[in-house]
Amino acid sequence: MTSSHPPLRSYGRLKSRPIKPRQAALMDTLLPSLRAPQEPFEPRALMAGAAEAWLEIGFGGGEHLAAQAAKRPEVLFIGAEPFQNGVASALRHIHEAGLANVRVHDGDARELLARLPDASLERIFVLFPDPWPKARHHKRRLLQRDTAAELARVLKPGGRLRFASDWANYVDWSLEILTATPGLRWTAQRAADWRTPPADHVTTRYEEKRLGDCAPVFLDFVKG
Ligand SMILES: C[S@@+](CC[C@H](N)C(=O)[O-])C[C@H]1O[C@@H](n2cnc3c(N)ncnc32)[C@H](O)[C@@H]1O
Repeated sequence: MTSSHPPLRSYGRLKSRPIKPRQAALMDTLLPSLRAPQEPFEPRALMAGAAEAWLEIGFGGGEHLAAQAAKRPEVLFIGAEPFQNGVASALRHIHEAGLANVRVHDGDARELLARLPDASLERIFVLFPDPWPKARHHKRRLLQRDTAAELARVLKPGGRLRFASDWANYVDWSLEILTATPGLRWTAQRAADWRTPPADHVTTRYEEKRLGDCAPVFLDFVKG
């Protein structure tokens, strides 16, 4: 990012209840070996023979990340999440499923994006980001014009971005930003395309809670 100011905090808590001992142990033993580099890097280089590199931003408890990674062992997945309990939960999923194709950025995804080269990812997921529904908090939303430009920058031509939310105002907000982002094209042709979960979607934990004010909406974009 070019701004001289750090971005506003887009997440709620960094930690909630105490992390269970088994997950805490994984934070000490597994996380260091999975942590994404702290300097600029080429994502596919993180796994020998990786066919593609995919990123999930704000993976929560890691259910979607682990399920997608289990289905595609040839793809290198990077998950970004600052919420420590979420990271610990994701490590449990990664460990239990024996996944060798997941790396983790346990921090703000915007720091990670800044380290990625142009055109280095095939897919990006932003699923049910914190809605920040009050107007005075909209500036905290993860999806802003500069973040959208970063997402477009790191996607390869033909690469895809999926944004999902069940907050109507955040859907409208994101649609306006993403359709105005140079290089991104919305793929929807009919209402069913955004109302119906895509065939490759894995239901997330937040999505299941139905905390929003509308049915889940899925916005799929392709990099032109
Ligand atoms: C509402 S939760 C949804 C979690 C998950 N995607 C799901 O659907 O179950 C949003 C998540 O995004 C994370 N988040 C917020 N800002 C973020 C940022 N700048 N970078 C990475 N993750 C972020 C939060 O910590 C939180 O876990």
